[in-house]
Amino acid sequence: MKFPHDFIFGAASASYQIEGAWNEDGKGITNWDVFSKIPGKTYEGTNGEVAIDHYHRYKEDIQLMAEMGLESYRFSLSWARILPTGDGEVNEKGLEFYNNIINECLKYGIVPFVTLYHWDLPLTLEEDGGWTNKRTAEAFVKYAAICFQSFGDRVKHWITFNETVMFCGLGYLKGAHPPGIQNDEKKYFQATHYVFYAHAKAVEVYKELRQYGEIGITHVFLPAYSVDDKQENVIAARHANEYETFWYYDPILKGTYPTYVVEQLKEKGWTPDWTEEELNTLQRNAEKNDFIGLNYYQPIRVEKNNTVFSSMEHSRETSTLVPGSPSFDGYYRTVKMENKTYTKWGWEISPQGFLDGLHMLKARYGDIKMYVTENGLGDEDPIIDGEIVDVPRIKYIEQHLKVIKRAINEGIHLKGYYAWSAIDLLSWLNGYKKQYGFIYVDHQDNLNRKKKLSYHWYKAIIKTRGEKL
Ligand code: BG6
Repeated sequence: MKFPHDFIFGAASASYQIEGAWNEDGKGITNWDVFSKIPGKTYEGTNGEVAIDHYHRYKEDIQLMAEMGLESYRFSLSWARILPTGDGEVNEKGLEFYNNIINECLKYGIVPFVTLYHWDLPLTLEEDGGWTNKRTAEAFVKYAAICFQSFGDRVKHWITFNETVMFCGLGYLKGAHPPGIQNDEKKYFQATHYVFYAHAKAVEVYKELRQYGEIGITHVFLPAYSVDDKQENVIAARHANEYETFWYYDPILKGTYPTYVVEQLKEKGWTPDWTEEELNTLQRNAEKNDFIGLNYYQPIRVEKNNTVFSSMEHSRETSTLVPGSPSFDGYYRTVKMENKTYTKWGWEISPQGFLDGLHMLKARYGDIKMYVTENGLGDEDPIIDGEIVDVPRIKYIEQHLKVIKRAINEGIHLKGYYAWSAIDLLSWLNGYKKQYGFIYVDHQDNLNRKKKLSYHWYKAIIKTRGEKL
């Protein structure tokens, strides 16, 4: 069986991780421009000043994507290139850069799938409280409207936010992303609420413009499974799904927050300061979402946490989803299991976990359209005789595409797959050592691009529409 004719094969990236040119052509400074330079925050002090210099090499990069047969390219816009201070004047050079990217994609028939926010926030807004301040939400809506108006004639696929749980969780609970705050649950939930509110308003604005494209949000999908049948562990897994998944999709798709979590937040004093107007905005716009994006890398295996919970010190390593630490509320802990397979960075490889998770989402949210907006293997790729022989990546993607095919057959409404990533890029906390791309970037040799084995493999998959998978 081939993949359906309207299923999209794509690959993804994000502005901060590829562009570089951090202070060129009027771009404003972002939270990451500052945070990545604090000693110890990133692997070997890597930062996005140059990244892979996509800003200057985008033509070559998109040409390589076209040659691979990529049907769609998911990339994010840097807010601070377009609005250097977040909600002030527009920088025409920023608009020009993204017009060039979009036009270059269209030249080859590559469908641009645009993410508005992939974590790089104009510093002005971060310094004014970032996502805990409603100003940022209002500023986002203004920024989104400018993007719809500037690019919406050619861009018909929009993602508002990438992985709220990551930038809010790492930003306000673990301190591993900007603004680097630890263990502040109140701020964490407040920030997530303003993100959902900003999303709902942006969706509303988009629909009012009648551009006849589609809009949705992307979350990292971490379905939780109990390590065994023990009741307390089963309950712990349910708890994890409520906090890690339903908190993120319910306000978007149902327009209300999950009661289970809401009740507990009240008891703990962590309820966001929300207004009737904000809650109504969520409600009013829930049905206008066209799809949800899922970034799937791994499930989480969960057991009840029976040790006393105290505020934690987090290291950079334990902040990147490696199993073995208690949840922020101390209720459960994630576990590395003997009988599972893990990547070099300790992430479980589980296509089956994805399939089961997709059914869980369908049971809760019905037939909403879904895209896999990220999936891929972070690895240190082997180089043999000058060739990048990334066989483990091919295997990883192959296994996941197989379950996606099965999921479609089982009635899951999945319409596209975006491998993470199109090209090797800067990992937020892991530098350039952890590679994901189909295209290799040689940091020893002038950032030259080279096709990996997976590049040729994915090209064949796209060409044959995955018939042999
Ligand atoms: C996702 C992000 O969470 O994971 C990407 O959306 C990121 O931006 C990817 O690069 C992989 O994470 P890491 O830590 O392995 O680079």
